[in-house]
Amino acid sequence: MSVRHFLDLAATDGQTLRAILNDAAARKAKIKNGERSKPLEGKVLAMIFEKASTRTRVSFDVAMRQLGGETLMLTGAEMQLGRSETIADTAKVLSRYVDAIMIRTTRHDRLLEMAEHATVPVINGLTDDTHPCQIMADILTFEEHRGPVKDKLFAWTGDGNNVLHSLVEASARFSFRLNIAVPAGSEPDERFIAWAKENGGRVEMFRSAKDAVTGSDCIVTDTWVSMGQEHKARGHNVFQPYQVNDELMALASPDALFMHCLPAHRGEEVTDSVIDGPHSVVFDEAENRMHAQRAVLAYCLGA
Ligand code: CP
Ligand code: NVA
Repeated sequence: MSVRHFLDLAATDGQTLRAILNDAAARKAKIKNGERSKPLEGKVLAMIFEKASTRTRVSFDVAMRQLGGETLMLTGAEMQLGRSETIADTAKVLSRYVDAIMIRTTRHDRLLEMAEHATVPVINGLTDDTHPCQIMADILTFEEHRGPVKDKLFAWTGDGNNVLHSLVEASARFSFRLNIAVPAGSEPDERFIAWAKENGGRVEMFRSAKDAVTGSDCIVTDTWVSMGQEHKARGHNVFQPYQVNDELMALASPDALFMHCLPAHRGEEVTDSVIDGPHSVVFDEAENRMHAQRAVLAYCLGA
């Protein structure tokens, strides 16, 4: 059997993604019920971080331990990677030691190179292009609160970044509608939109955040400046009309959810009143990173 990587939502078929989410929900229910099993006993996950992280780092670590496995936390700068050992050689070496590799890296092609040369599963813990584990947790969260995501309307407002790219892929994989409002110059990469449309996605672009969110079932946003994109930072006045505040939230469906992958920049892309308000499920999303990733690990490692 070929190695089961988890690189992107576009790289895994919809049926498999749905099975992973079903498994995540089932494992979550068992854990909440106090049932523990250790299918990954004796397995080791190496985690490489070339960028900062709180949630990804802790949720993968705890998820792996809950399954009976162990983790190694590696920082790119402290590895020979930081002294320009190639990703390919690193992948071959790590494959001799560990059972799976999770990597958060700067450039997406580094993730792909790791997957090409590793003989163990490689999991995308965020790249400049995508963040699939985040969106798996977000779909799990939406469905826990509001039932099947199919045909629901999601609205993204803010910067067209890596989290949005995975949401775009998810819209095709899970058949929900997605409205996107971004300022000129912050558009998501057209490759992702084109792929979603070719795969049955219903994605619509807007310039006005108000138009995009009207009647939506879920408003999603993220930082206006992603890690490693600081050189592209633009004046906050460009993004101000895209801020999720009470006025914008009021245009969504009355029972709409508010989502944010965190970390949030309160007072910038979202106000305290929204992120701490009744629509917000941001801490459920954070918790569900761990539950979704237990299922991703189980899928990759065949548990
Ligand atoms: N949402 C998310 O990936 O958070 P971290 O950067 O803290 O891992
Ligand atoms: N778009 C953000 C997500 C952080 C989890 C970033 O890449 O910095």
